[in-house]
Amino acid sequence: MSGLIPQHFIDDLITRADIVEVLGRRIPLKKAGREFKACCPFHDEKTPSFTVSPAKGFYHCFGCGAHGTALGFLMEYDHMEFVEAVESLAGMMGIEVPREDSQRPARRYDELFELMQKVEQHYQQELRKHQPAADYLRARGIDGATAKRFGIGYAPSGWSHLLDKFGTSTEASDRLLAVGLIIRKDNGKHYDRFRGRIMFPIRDSRGRCIGFGGRVMGQEEPKYLNSPETVLFHKGRELYGLYEARQAIRNIERLVVVEGYMDVIGLARHGIDFAAATLGTATTDEHLNRLFRLSDEVHFCFDGDRAGRAAAWRALETALPQIREGRQVRFVFLPEGQDPDSYVQNDGADGFEKALDQSLALSDYLVEELASQVDMKSLDGRARLAELARPLVNRIPPGVYKALLIERLAESVGLAAPKLEAILAENPSKPTLGAGRGGLGGLRQKSKPSAGKPSIVRRAISLLLNNPDAAGKLDIEQLAGVSKPGTELLRDLIETVQSEPNMTTARLLERWRTHEEGRHLGKLAAVELPVSEDFDAAAELEQCIAQLKLAGKRERVDFLIEKERLRVLSDAERNELRELGQGSATGG
Ligand code: GTP
Ligand code: MN
Repeated sequence: MSGLIPQHFIDDLITRADIVEVLGRRIPLKKAGREFKACCPFHDEKTPSFTVSPAKGFYHCFGCGAHGTALGFLMEYDHMEFVEAVESLAGMMGIEVPREDSQRPARRYDELFELMQKVEQHYQQELRKHQPAADYLRARGIDGATAKRFGIGYAPSGWSHLLDKFGTSTEASDRLLAVGLIIRKDNGKHYDRFRGRIMFPIRDSRGRCIGFGGRVMGQEEPKYLNSPETVLFHKGRELYGLYEARQAIRNIERLVVVEGYMDVIGLARHGIDFAAATLGTATTDEHLNRLFRLSDEVHFCFDGDRAGRAAAWRALETALPQIREGRQVRFVFLPEGQDPDSYVQNDGADGFEKALDQSLALSDYLVEELASQVDMKSLDGRARLAELARPLVNRIPPGVYKALLIERLAESVGLAAPKLEAILAENPSKPTLGAGRGGLGGLRQKSKPSAGKPSIVRRAISLLLNNPDAAGKLDIEQLAGVSKPGTELLRDLIETVQSEPNMTTARLLERWRTHEEGRHLGKLAAVELPVSEDFDAAAELEQCIAQLKLAGKRERVDFLIEKERLRVLSDAERNELRELGQGSATGG
């Protein structure tokens, strides 16, 4: 468990370790240009395809795909646990691992939770002292009782507010760093992460504060800032408001998943206590596990915009392996431009409950969505629908639910169910790469020429992992509204590289070791990139980001054109389409 050892120690260790020396003690390495080669110790081979890059601190076998950092190598080759590998590596380098006795780790966690609680209370006190912050909340319709229930606070502006109060010793500032409340500079000095923001504490299932979301009160960017991934806080696992929902309701009949902090709070303010928000990430398996543990009925209710609809589709894809009889997954589509917060403010709790009652069952959404992408009047179109459905249906576990869905599809396609089933079973499409989130990705996205070509997001992540320096000046706001799978991870990586100096490939990988995405990052780091003299990683990366931005725009244009075709385009959307149309003259 990496949590027992300070992250910055692992960062330093990985930066200073000489991977060539570590591996060279165990296998014979031969210099080849800037890299080193060997016969792979993890599979049988006669010609060396095992490559070690000292600059990246990373090894990779082109034969069997094995890859990792110096720590990863020790774990694989010497069959060590993570902590053992850290100790062994530190030992080789003559450094002591900062950890006293076996009692210490448990205490360390307690100390971190305690610190979070103190900070949370402190932010709440500050809210009382800052009239503009209290005014802001009132203007947004949040009353005192709701603010109190969610522990909303305020982080004053200034670079060392928290640092001066809670980080006066090295130990204390280490703890602040470990929970992500301060950021370490090049020169080893620190500053507060959250400055001049309304603070929303994020709680684990036991109600302990494990992180924060912070919102600016004006137009500054970024609008929201979240705690980074820490030993206490894993975004892909936590849902904002779930603890508060459980406190409010003994038997939760249904849960609503929304996008934002303010959605949860706005709904709660109107007595809808059963909402929880993903933390700026897509809905994950782990989220669904936690939700289904509390209730058999889960409604997704995202913003009425392109990003919200894309998020709904991805939630559907993620939910497929988990649906079964007795579980209900439903989707609420809000009018364009609305989010749950604005909707409940306008239409009240009754209006919102009504929208929930009229939600679309997963099976209906799936069929309707696919049907809208093809011409249902033609035979070709209906055949194409079956094609589109295949990878989705195949992710549903066998059982009654799946059988019923196939029947429903068969009806739409105009085939007998057994016949359709046979078609669905034919050359089952390849499992999608990435975190099991392939599929359509965005709403009306047309079929993609994906044969073997990595997606732009994957390419961007590979580039960034291999050349962390190249991400220094990227403007991540360009990624706002881009819905492609992996975009959040790309954002997180860019933010990490930009907020911490001297990032290396190995350090990034070690940082993500305990995360679900960690596995994929290793593979992406191992992708072969051109190494010619004039290869400019920063320029390539910038181009990827620009392409992503454009792809996001194109998705939007397609969506609007589709709406126009169906004659359901609003005036606002017509204007938007006109504006977007001017931007993309090629109409591509
Ligand atoms: P308000 O504008 O305050 O009503 O918030 P909202 O919840 O409607 O925000 P929005 O729909 O723009 O975003 C939904 C969620 O995405 C937020 O609650 C955040 O978790 C996340 N988010 C939004 N903007 C940012 C950002 O700039 N950076 C990060 N990291 N997350 C963001
Ligand atoms: Mn919103």
